Amino acid sequence: MTSARTIRIFDTTLRDGEQSPGASMNLTEKLEIAQALVRLGVDVIEAGFPIASPGDFASVSDIAKTVSAATVCGLARCNDADIDRAWEALKPAAQPRIHVFLATSSIHREFKLRMNEDEVIARAVAGVRRARTYCGDVEFSPEDSARTEIDFLCRVVEAVIDAGATTVNIPDTVGYATPSQMHYVIKSLRERVPNIDRAVISVHCHDDLGLAVANSLAAVEAGAGQVECTINGIGERAGNCSLEEVVMALKTRRDHYHVDTRVVTQRLVPTSRLVANITGIQVPRNKAIVGRNAFAHEAGIHQDGMLKERRTYEIMRPEDVGLERTDLVLGKHSGRAALADRALALGYQLTPEQLQTVFERFKVLADRKKEIYDGDIAALCEQQFSALPEQFTFEGYTLTSASGSPPTVELRVLQNGEPRSVSVTAGDGPIDGIFLAIEKLTGIQTACRDFRVQAVTVGKDAQAEVTVELAATTPGDGGQVHRGRGVSTDSLEASAKAFLGAINRVALGSQPRIHPQ
Ligand code: KIV
Ligand code: ZN
Repeated sequence: MTSARTIRIFDTTLRDGEQSPGASMNLTEKLEIAQALVRLGVDVIEAGFPIASPGDFASVSDIAKTVSAATVCGLARCNDADIDRAWEALKPAAQPRIHVFLATSSIHREFKLRMNEDEVIARAVAGVRRARTYCGDVEFSPEDSARTEIDFLCRVVEAVIDAGATTVNIPDTVGYATPSQMHYVIKSLRERVPNIDRAVISVHCHDDLGLAVANSLAAVEAGAGQVECTINGIGERAGNCSLEEVVMALKTRRDHYHVDTRVVTQRLVPTSRLVANITGIQVPRNKAIVGRNAFAHEAGIHQDGMLKERRTYEIMRPEDVGLERTDLVLGKHSGRAALADRALALGYQLTPEQLQTVFERFKVLADRKKEIYDGDIAALCEQQFSALPEQFTFEGYTLTSASGSPPTVELRVLQNGEPRSVSVTAGDGPIDGIFLAIEKLTGIQTACRDFRVQAVTVGKDAQAEVTVELAATTPGDGGQVHRGRGVSTDSLEASAKAFLGAINRVALGSQPRIHPQ
């Protein structure tokens, strides 16, 4: 194989990805994703925006302390307080990077910043200089680059490189660019900015027109050396460039792009599942690379071709993205070691205590359903990693219900370890009745923003996975949306667990955050 440029993969799942509505993650979840990203082989992990909230600060700082095999990056606006706070969080990192950004397009200059071109350049240069007093690795992003006049963009890029930026990222903040435009912008920077060789050119594309991956690939063709992306393409609005798609496009069409990445592609599906489970943002079945149907062949002609020669209808091998040809794995008689192995293959490295709990739950589940699939194991492991301190723990329910009249629900929970119960006759059906019982018992009133049920695997005995999003209507919570997830072979029990999960988050309280855009 000929030697080729290596494109740096900058993952921003924990920062831009977390800006997806409803995707906020707790510290344990972020650390788990950061470890999965290290195993995936990404070069840079953007761990958060430290000044945004104490929670963001803590997660950047904890990831900085625990990750040494990748660069750990923190975002900051171009002001002293942001940059100082970012450095405070990043300084324990083996490879820290400060990422400063400032908008440059005329629409942002005029209406958001109320600054002229020279003032924007002066602020950008001051931000980069301050970041460089702390750290040798500084990235600068001219926000909304794709709508910035090319002459001005060249001036900004030259000035920030002179001030010490080692990576210059070109964001298409609003997903407005087209592939040929992106190619032109990167090519122009390479041709017109005299000091461009002193920095890596990066690209950060949003997916508002569904072009984020195509635009990122066009930037690579024009000479970009870093691509910013997220697992499953999550992010602000329509999301970001999807990591798995851009990486597999570069790998599958190496004949065309002539570049490599360091990503261990066999980890793509496990990492995608982990992020989907933690964020509650499920991957559509037909999603490229990691969707359930991505390697399923339905048409008879295709199946026939596949049997004769796989390459007739398959351009990638499922095992290269970490997908097993069959995912039926374990049953009632499987042992602890087999479970630990399977969990690891799915991306979950369990401590002995976590393995013990997962194994106990696995045995209970194996009594309820004959065949245990990868999805079941992922769901069991997930409950370990996303565990928050629980004020309310589901114990059980008794329910009588008939169409046309309100159900009667008796609900039993543990509150800080103490048994409590409540009975209500109310609601429009059993799930509404359970939710009302939970509200009565906890005293927390909510508005339901989303409720989704899906089967974790296949078959009549499949586990139901319920995801709910609630906005607390209790004064003081600020209407923030909280997510909960519950899994059980009994869909009412899964609903009760999901609802209580979200209520536990409300009870824990959460800090307001600043969003960068
Ligand atoms: O989309 C964007 O412009 C960003 C910057 C902060 C890089 O996310
Ligand atoms: Zn972005």
